[in-house]
Amino acid sequence: MSKILTIGAHGGIGRLFCRKAAEAGLPIRAMVRSEEQRSYFEAQGVEVVLGDLEADFSQAFEGCDQVVFTAGSGGATGGDKTLLVDLYGAIRSIRGSEERGVVHFVMVSALRVESPLEAPPAMRHYMVAKLLADQRLLESGLRSTILRPGRLTDDAGSGRVRTEIEGEGFGISRSNVADCIVEALRHPSGSNRVVDLLDGNVPIAEVFASR
Ligand SMILES: NC(=O)c1ccc[n+]([C@@H]2O[C@H](COP(=O)([O-])OP(=O)(O)OC[C@H]3O[C@@H](n4cnc5c(N)ncnc54)[C@H](OP(=O)(O)O)[C@@H]3O)[C@@H](O)[C@H]2O)c1
Repeated sequence: MSKILTIGAHGGIGRLFCRKAAEAGLPIRAMVRSEEQRSYFEAQGVEVVLGDLEADFSQAFEGCDQVVFTAGSGGATGGDKTLLVDLYGAIRSIRGSEERGVVHFVMVSALRVESPLEAPPAMRHYMVAKLLADQRLLESGLRSTILRPGRLTDDAGSGRVRTEIEGEGFGISRSNVADCIVEALRHPSGSNRVVDLLDGNVPIAEVFASR
């Protein structure tokens, strides 16, 4: 059975997603950076591959027909890592997917990347990196789902989201984003789709069944 490569699997969203996907019976391959990260996944029957976005990770794509990108350099590193991981790592993941015959790519992007200059100054380079990665994906031959969550929280998942910015709050739980990735994989649409995501009132399954 073809696998779903998850890049950034050991992150906050990545770990939740891999556990939920394994429970749902999806065939996941988790890409992590170190041996010590292996046990969390293997305990759930999730296959692990070692790979670093700043090195050659082409072997990770072998036998995969879908890719989830939820890696990120995080706020504790500098602009150099934003370029190398969030931008160039994402572009190399898209290119590797094209070369290996992947059919569907799920990108965890960010809300409002379309307008980097409207973001707080310290966030603008990150928004540019995410925007350019999204654009590269939309220009690829891959079918894509681009998820654009608002500010991530570690709140318990509600199983309900909204896809319009209007409404209360700019946050979404990592758990809800992880559920959205599972549903996006279950319902890969025939065309590219870009979905803003915030906590809300619409059952997640409904959002992806209808797009
Ligand atoms: N924070 C927010 O409010 C926010 C809002 C919207 C969108 N996002 C996006 O949401 C996504 C996931 O967020 P999160 O909170 O789950 O992130 P996270 O917990 O920081 O996880 C990011 C993962 O990326 C991995 N990573 C970093 N550099 C890598 C490299 N060179 N090679 C391979 N993997 C690498 C990390 O590996 P290690 O575990 O080894 O460090 C980590 O597992 C990111 O794309 C982020 O940009 C975040």
